[in-house]
Amino acid sequence: MAGGGEGTFQVVFQPSGKRGSYRGPVRLLDAARRAGVGLESVCGGVGDCGRCKVMVTSGPTSHLTSIEEALLSAEEIAQGYRLACCTRVYGDAEVFVPPAPKLDAQRLQVESKEMALEAEPPVREYEVELPEATLADMRSDLGRLCDTLAGQGAQADAVDYTALKATSAALREGQWSVQVAIRGREIVAVSPTGRASAGLGMAVDLGTTKIALYLVDLGTGKTVDMRGIQNPQIPFGEDVVSRLQTIMEDEEALGLQSAAVLKAINKEIARMCRRNGTTPQRILEATIVGNTAMHHILLRLPTRQLALFPFVPATDRPLEVKARELGLAISPGAYIYFLPPVAGFVGSDHVAMLLATGVYRHQGNALGIDIGTNTEIALKTPGGITACSTASGPAFEGARIKCGMRASPGAVERVAIDEGDLTVDIKTIADEAPVGICGSGIVDAIAEMLRVGLIDERGRIIPGGRGVRLGPAARPELVLAAADGGRCPQDIVITQRDVAEVQLAKGAIRTGTDILLGRAGLAAGDIDRVVIAGAFGSYISPAATVELGMFPRLPLERFEQVGNAAGAGARAVLVSTRERSRAEQLAAEVGYIELAAEPDFHRQFALGMRFGR
Ligand code: FES
Repeated sequence: MAGGGEGTFQVVFQPSGKRGSYRGPVRLLDAARRAGVGLESVCGGVGDCGRCKVMVTSGPTSHLTSIEEALLSAEEIAQGYRLACCTRVYGDAEVFVPPAPKLDAQRLQVESKEMALEAEPPVREYEVELPEATLADMRSDLGRLCDTLAGQGAQADAVDYTALKATSAALREGQWSVQVAIRGREIVAVSPTGRASAGLGMAVDLGTTKIALYLVDLGTGKTVDMRGIQNPQIPFGEDVVSRLQTIMEDEEALGLQSAAVLKAINKEIARMCRRNGTTPQRILEATIVGNTAMHHILLRLPTRQLALFPFVPATDRPLEVKARELGLAISPGAYIYFLPPVAGFVGSDHVAMLLATGVYRHQGNALGIDIGTNTEIALKTPGGITACSTASGPAFEGARIKCGMRASPGAVERVAIDEGDLTVDIKTIADEAPVGICGSGIVDAIAEMLRVGLIDERGRIIPGGRGVRLGPAARPELVLAAADGGRCPQDIVITQRDVAEVQLAKGAIRTGTDILLGRAGLAAGDIDRVVIAGAFGSYISPAATVELGMFPRLPLERFEQVGNAAGAGARAVLVSTRERSRAEQLAAEVGYIELAAEPDFHRQFALGMRFGR
């Protein structure tokens, strides 16, 4: 293997063959990120999760650290496994990356109920027939176009540079008949008549874990196609805090994370357009909603102030950016509209969710909750809307859970324990042989353990119950499925540490809810509607969440699972200027509580951690 030039060396990642050249010692995790190799790094590279395992097959490396000794088994160390975040390479090296779980097969919820609304898009298309240029009529092509548009009642007094460049050829190619897209009073696209499909829009819900994309007919407001893909920033950290941390440590990570998302979105847009017999150039407007960190990273805005107390965003105003300026491969004159975030940890996706579900106009008291690695909670009362954000961690994504995995085929998603003989019944996604457990399965399992008395309210697994055995360090664990030597190479268990992870997550959500209620002077029973949004929220069992005490003990009919409502909100602001204004007003009106600054936070959190309350 040859180095990349004087003083530089190469690191090659196998089996993909991806490689990068480096000048000085480089951490393997950073080398992988720069080479575009997707290593799992749930903890963001701080040496906490043990997921970034690689095997260094050749090359000089730093010594094994105490973290690696703690997180790798003796067998793995003997085989040459290292943790990429703890290992530096100093010269030409070859690194084997073990296969990741099949991410493509992951269940990525993008569906939700579409809002019923009238299409009033910000971009309108006109078919225009122009008089041909003659010696007697020597107006410029643009002047001629604007005059003819004015005759049809469409005022245009500005033109996008790329649209202008296309105008003269389009006029002649279309024999003086063109399709013109106007936004406000600006011409943003010109194409020969009859060559193109309907004018389209693209709505994107940019989540920390997944990205939902919706191709929408701007004329009718109807969704033409939708897709969910995994956020390619995951190798930079499972949650927003880890991703912001990687940028604090290495400024280049901001550009890398932004570019990774854009590349993935562009690829998916091209694929969706091909599938629907159109081209990305026909996409005349895009909207993107997301949490504040995703919004800032994509836009390459400063993120340092987001990561440090008091966690303020760079902006809380709506923003319009030319697609080409950001590198979004749609019509080059098109704009991308960004709904404003509410606060550092309550983003425009939450605003979009409140809009789409109608929580903002609920007459009584309603909770709107979007569960993720960060959970946003809004309380709507007749006095207004207040929101907070709580770090619920990646446990619901299956991370930091011993047998945890994302929601893909073979993941245990439902668990039932017989109260009489304590036999465990499981259901897996796609009914495949079990290989691990996903978020909804973990919630179910722990709720069931609590219900049948295998866990006490402080979260201790009671030894001696059927199926409970003593695991490593004599800690009790419940076996959900025994190893079968095939796809399930090891027993699928719920450990004491897993219970503690879920307890932290559920504690965070309950604390946020209780503080919001307390501030509004309400009791839990005063809530008459609980809207649970988001991919994970679509699959959990409300009964299990109530059993755990994640949500207050309310009648189950008050709970509503709405799917990816943020995606529905993004589509609404894409096709309706009225909904766009409404959402902007909503974002400005939502009050925000910083939980960490609440004087009662620690006591509330201790209470929130108790199971079953
Ligand atoms: Fe290396 Fe978490 S231990 S990324």
